[in-house]
Amino acid sequence: PKFAVFASGSGSNFQAIHDAVKAGKVPGQAVLVVTDKPDAFVVERAKKVGIKTLAIKPSSFSSKQAYEQAVLDKLSELKVEWIILAGYMRLIGDVLLGAYPNRIINIHPSLLPSFPGKDAIGQAMEHGVKVTGVTVHYVDAGMDTGPILAQAAVEVVSGNREKTEERIHAVEHELYTKTLQQLWSR
Ligand code: GRF
Repeated sequence: PKFAVFASGSGSNFQAIHDAVKAGKVPGQAVLVVTDKPDAFVVERAKKVGIKTLAIKPSSFSSKQAYEQAVLDKLSELKVEWIILAGYMRLIGDVLLGAYPNRIINIHPSLLPSFPGKDAIGQAMEHGVKVTGVTVHYVDAGMDTGPILAQAAVEVVSGNREKTEERIHAVEHELYTKTLQQLWSR
Protein backbone atom coordinates (compact mmCIF):
# COMPACT_ATOMS: atom_id res chain seq x y z
CA PRO A 1 0.00 0.00 0.00
CA LYS A 2 0.90 3.67 -0.33
CA PHE A 3 1.86 5.20 3.00
CA ALA A 4 2.97 8.50 4.51
CA VAL A 5 5.41 8.83 7.42
CA PHE A 6 4.74 11.57 9.98
CA ALA A 7 7.80 12.71 11.96
CA SER A 8 8.93 15.69 14.03
CA GLY A 9 12.60 14.92 14.56
CA SER A 10 15.61 13.03 13.29
CA GLY A 11 13.64 10.52 11.25
CA SER A 12 15.81 7.47 11.88
CA ASN A 13 12.66 5.32 11.88
CA PHE A 14 11.59 6.86 8.57
CA GLN A 15 15.04 6.02 7.21
CA ALA A 16 14.85 2.42 8.44
CA ILE A 17 11.40 1.92 6.90
CA HIS A 18 12.45 3.54 3.65
CA ASP A 19 15.57 1.36 3.46
CA ALA A 20 13.50 -1.77 4.14
CA VAL A 21 11.09 -0.84 1.35
CA LYS A 22 13.99 -0.30 -1.04
CA ALA A 23 15.46 -3.66 -0.03
CA GLY A 24 12.16 -5.33 -0.87
CA LYS A 25 11.50 -6.27 2.76
CA VAL A 26 8.37 -4.14 3.26
CA PRO A 27 5.64 -4.44 0.60
CA GLY A 28 4.63 -0.77 0.62
CA GLN A 29 5.37 2.51 -1.08
CA ALA A 30 6.45 5.58 0.87
CA VAL A 31 4.97 8.54 -0.98
CA LEU A 32 5.17 11.40 1.51
CA VAL A 33 6.84 12.61 4.69
CA VAL A 34 4.69 14.94 6.79
CA THR A 35 6.31 17.08 9.45
CA ASP A 36 5.03 19.74 11.82
CA LYS A 37 8.63 20.97 12.23
CA PRO A 38 9.88 22.35 8.92
CA ASP A 39 13.53 22.34 10.07
CA ALA A 40 13.53 18.77 11.40
CA PHE A 41 16.30 16.53 10.07
CA VAL A 42 13.70 14.12 8.65
CA VAL A 43 13.08 16.68 5.86
CA GLU A 44 16.69 16.35 4.69
CA ARG A 45 16.50 12.57 4.85
CA ALA A 46 13.35 12.59 2.72
CA LYS A 47 14.83 14.94 0.14
CA LYS A 48 17.98 12.86 -0.09
CA VAL A 49 15.97 9.76 -1.01
CA GLY A 50 13.58 11.64 -3.28
CA ILE A 51 10.41 11.46 -1.23
CA LYS A 52 7.98 14.38 -1.20
CA THR A 53 7.63 16.35 2.00
CA LEU A 54 4.79 18.35 3.46
CA ALA A 55 6.26 20.69 6.07
CA ILE A 56 3.61 22.94 7.53
CA LYS A 57 3.33 24.39 11.00
CA PRO A 58 0.10 23.78 12.90
CA SER A 59 0.50 27.26 14.41
CA SER A 60 -0.13 28.86 11.03
CA PHE A 61 -3.67 27.42 10.99
CA SER A 62 -6.70 28.66 12.89
CA SER A 63 -7.39 25.26 14.47
CA LYS A 64 -6.14 21.69 14.73
CA GLN A 65 -8.96 20.68 12.38
CA ALA A 66 -7.84 23.18 9.76
CA TYR A 67 -4.24 21.95 10.02
CA GLU A 68 -5.27 18.31 9.73
CA GLN A 69 -7.57 19.13 6.79
CA ALA A 70 -4.60 20.64 4.91
CA VAL A 71 -2.61 17.48 5.63
CA LEU A 72 -5.56 15.32 4.60
CA ASP A 73 -5.91 17.18 1.29
CA LYS A 74 -2.31 16.25 0.44
CA LEU A 75 -2.77 12.64 1.58
CA SER A 76 -5.87 12.32 -0.60
CA GLU A 77 -4.14 13.87 -3.59
CA LEU A 78 -1.35 11.27 -3.32
CA LYS A 79 -3.81 8.45 -2.57
CA VAL A 80 -2.14 7.61 0.74
CA GLU A 81 -3.70 4.54 2.38
CA TRP A 82 -1.79 4.27 5.67
CA ILE A 83 -0.27 6.81 8.09
CA ILE A 84 2.91 5.71 9.85
CA LEU A 85 3.85 7.85 12.85
CA ALA A 86 7.56 7.84 13.65
CA GLY A 87 8.46 10.39 16.29
CA TYR A 88 5.53 12.65 15.42
CA MET A 89 5.12 14.65 18.62
CA ARG A 90 1.45 15.52 18.32
CA LEU A 91 -1.86 13.85 19.08
CA ILE A 92 -3.83 12.84 15.99
CA GLY A 93 -7.21 14.60 15.92
CA ASP A 94 -10.66 13.72 14.68
CA VAL A 95 -10.11 14.80 11.06
CA LEU A 96 -7.29 12.30 10.41
CA LEU A 97 -8.72 9.60 12.71
CA GLY A 98 -12.02 9.84 10.85
CA ALA A 99 -10.35 9.63 7.43
CA TYR A 100 -8.00 6.75 8.37
CA PRO A 101 -9.88 4.41 10.74
CA ASN A 102 -7.51 1.60 11.83
CA ARG A 103 -5.01 2.84 9.28
CA ILE A 104 -2.71 4.85 11.55
CA ILE A 105 0.21 3.16 13.32
CA ASN A 106 2.66 4.53 15.90
CA ILE A 107 5.89 3.40 17.52
CA HIS A 108 6.63 4.24 21.14
CA PRO A 109 9.87 3.68 23.07
CA SER A 110 8.46 1.75 26.05
CA LEU A 111 6.45 -1.35 26.82
CA LEU A 112 3.01 0.27 26.84
CA PRO A 113 0.94 0.82 28.91
CA SER A 114 4.04 1.76 30.93
CA PHE A 115 5.48 5.21 30.32
CA PRO A 116 3.17 6.77 27.73
CA GLY A 117 3.72 10.33 26.54
CA LYS A 118 6.89 12.35 26.29
CA ASP A 119 10.37 11.09 27.15
CA ALA A 120 9.42 7.46 27.76
CA ILE A 121 13.09 6.51 27.99
CA GLY A 122 13.75 9.16 30.65
CA GLN A 123 10.67 7.97 32.55
CA ALA A 124 11.94 4.38 32.48
CA MET A 125 15.42 5.41 33.70
CA GLU A 126 13.89 7.48 36.49
CA HIS A 127 11.76 4.57 37.70
CA GLY A 128 14.80 2.34 37.68
CA VAL A 129 13.18 -0.42 35.63
CA LYS A 130 15.63 -3.06 34.43
CA VAL A 131 13.73 -3.89 31.27
CA THR A 132 11.87 -1.48 29.02
CA GLY A 133 11.19 -1.80 25.32
CA VAL A 134 9.34 -0.78 22.22
CA THR A 135 5.67 -0.92 21.21
CA VAL A 136 4.05 -0.66 17.79
CA HIS A 137 0.34 0.09 18.08
CA TYR A 138 -2.74 1.35 16.27
CA VAL A 139 -3.50 4.99 16.99
CA ASP A 140 -6.70 6.16 18.64
CA ALA A 141 -7.62 9.49 20.19
CA GLY A 142 -5.60 8.84 23.36
CA MET A 143 -1.94 9.35 24.14
CA ASP A 144 -0.18 6.09 23.13
CA THR A 145 -3.30 4.04 23.92
CA GLY A 146 -4.45 2.15 20.80
CA PRO A 147 -4.48 -1.66 20.33
CA ILE A 148 -0.99 -3.17 20.43
CA LEU A 149 0.41 -4.80 17.30
CA ALA A 150 3.90 -5.79 18.48
CA GLN A 151 6.31 -5.35 21.38
CA ALA A 152 9.97 -6.11 22.07
CA ALA A 153 11.86 -5.91 25.34
CA VAL A 154 15.12 -4.00 25.78
CA GLU A 155 17.40 -4.25 28.81
CA VAL A 156 18.22 -0.92 30.41
CA VAL A 157 21.94 -0.13 30.65
CA SER A 158 21.92 0.95 34.28
CA GLY A 159 22.70 4.64 34.74
CA ASN A 160 23.45 5.09 31.05
CA ARG A 161 20.69 6.80 29.16
CA GLU A 162 22.67 7.18 25.97
CA LYS A 163 23.46 3.47 25.65
CA THR A 164 19.91 2.52 26.57
CA GLU A 165 18.60 4.87 23.94
CA GLU A 166 20.90 3.38 21.31
CA ARG A 167 19.60 -0.10 22.07
CA ILE A 168 16.00 1.08 21.93
CA HIS A 169 16.46 2.81 18.59
CA ALA A 170 18.08 -0.27 17.05
CA VAL A 171 15.17 -2.42 18.24
CA GLU A 172 12.66 0.17 16.99
CA HIS A 173 14.04 0.07 13.48
CA GLU A 174 13.85 -3.70 13.39
CA LEU A 175 10.44 -4.04 15.04
CA TYR A 176 8.76 -1.31 12.97
CA THR A 177 9.87 -2.76 9.64
CA LYS A 178 9.01 -6.32 10.71
CA THR A 179 5.56 -5.29 11.91
CA LEU A 180 4.75 -3.40 8.70
CA GLN A 181 6.02 -6.33 6.67
CA GLN A 182 3.66 -8.68 8.52
CA LEU A 183 0.74 -6.27 8.46
CA TRP A 184 0.92 -5.70 4.74
CA SER A 185 1.66 -9.28 3.68
CA ARG A 186 -1.56 -10.64 5.18
C1 GRF B 1 11.47 7.20 18.57
O1 GRF B 1 12.07 6.81 19.79
C2 GRF B 1 10.00 6.95 18.61
O2 GRF B 1 9.66 5.78 19.28
C3 GRF B 1 9.51 8.14 19.37
O3 GRF B 1 10.28 9.20 18.86
C4 GRF B 1 11.54 8.71 18.42
C5 GRF B 1 11.74 9.13 17.00
O4 GRF B 1 13.04 8.88 16.54
N1 GRF B 1 8.08 8.28 19.25
P1 GRF B 1 13.38 9.13 15.01
O5 GRF B 1 12.96 10.54 14.64
O6 GRF B 1 12.67 8.09 14.18
O7 GRF B 1 14.87 8.98 14.90
